[in-house]
Amino acid sequence: MSVSHPARPAQPTVSLIDHMDPGHPRHDLEHDVRIGLSSTPKWLPPKWFYDAAGSDLFSRITRLEEYYPTRRELAILRARAGDIAAASRASTLVELGSGTSEKTVLLLDALAEAGTLRAYTPVDVDGATLLSAANRLAARYPGVTVRAVRADFEHHLALLPRTGRRMVAFLGGTIGNLDPQARHVFLKSLRATLRPGDTFLLGADLVKDTGRLIAAYDDASGVTAAFNRNVLHVINRELDADFEPDAFAHVALYDDRHDRIEMRLRATRDMAVRIHGLGMSVMFTAGEEMRTEISTKFRPDRLREELRETGFTVRRFDTDPSDDFSLVLASV
Ligand code: SAH
Ligand code: AVI
Repeated sequence: MSVSHPARPAQPTVSLIDHMDPGHPRHDLEHDVRIGLSSTPKWLPPKWFYDAAGSDLFSRITRLEEYYPTRRELAILRARAGDIAAASRASTLVELGSGTSEKTVLLLDALAEAGTLRAYTPVDVDGATLLSAANRLAARYPGVTVRAVRADFEHHLALLPRTGRRMVAFLGGTIGNLDPQARHVFLKSLRATLRPGDTFLLGADLVKDTGRLIAAYDDASGVTAAFNRNVLHVINRELDADFEPDAFAHVALYDDRHDRIEMRLRATRDMAVRIHGLGMSVMFTAGEEMRTEISTKFRPDRLREELRETGFTVRRFDTDPSDDFSLVLASV
């Protein structure tokens, strides 16, 4: 772990705690690419979308007409952040996969209004986006200690700061990007780090009309397609590979057996891709699809059950007026 006080000498100063291997993303990416691209069918984990360009593309996705989750979650926060803050009485907000922390302002305002807020700890793998959000929020809340933590929420939960009465927020529906097994491990590991009085605020997208779901992941202007292909740019840059991103078509389909969107990249012709950094060649046949993301949509009863099974007690289950998205406050 290293602690530094980067950039911006002007007050307030944001500290950065970095739990990522100094070789990140190379070592982790090497491992994931080796496993994912030698599997049948091929797959890649979605966390590799998020370099600076990928985070930027995700921000553009959140503003698309078709992509409802961000607006719906924001609507719930507008209506309920005060009640959530009052129920949690948190002094420290820890946010996992915080990205640009845009919606977080509503929670921070509500906690500040309730008079309990002392510290904000955003946690993300993308250091650049993390720091710029942390600096923005430190300037907005001068009395609040902002500690940015660059970490992987699938590996480093036990290392996160534990001071104060904590609310751990995991917004945006990112929990849906974990497969059921990884989700179970994540929830149990998070539960193990929480103490009585701490709470967990979970944003989860809900099952709905398939047409709307597919449109949200296959927008007319092609921003989601560019986001999907960005993983190939990341592998080209980090592992000296020669993927031709434009030779892969963006695919978004809904798997109604598992209640989830799958994003894939489909090879439009036969290709041999060299990944020099791994000394590896990968063959794609025309039409072959590689899975790059799942985005699970939840049924409220099942979500409550998963939380109960992993040791949480649901205190509030708020949805937007169209029941598109849910925000769940759980205690331990
Ligand atoms: N919470 C924001 C951003 C969601 S995008 C919102 O609701 O709009 C998902 C975010 O999680 C990105 O910023 C990405 O960099 C981060 N992320 C993805 N996988 C991660 C992991 N394993 N550990 C930490 N952060 C991760
Ligand atoms: C971050 N995550 C919740 C987004 C989602 O909706 O699953 C990522 C995303 N993928 C395509 N569009 C947005």
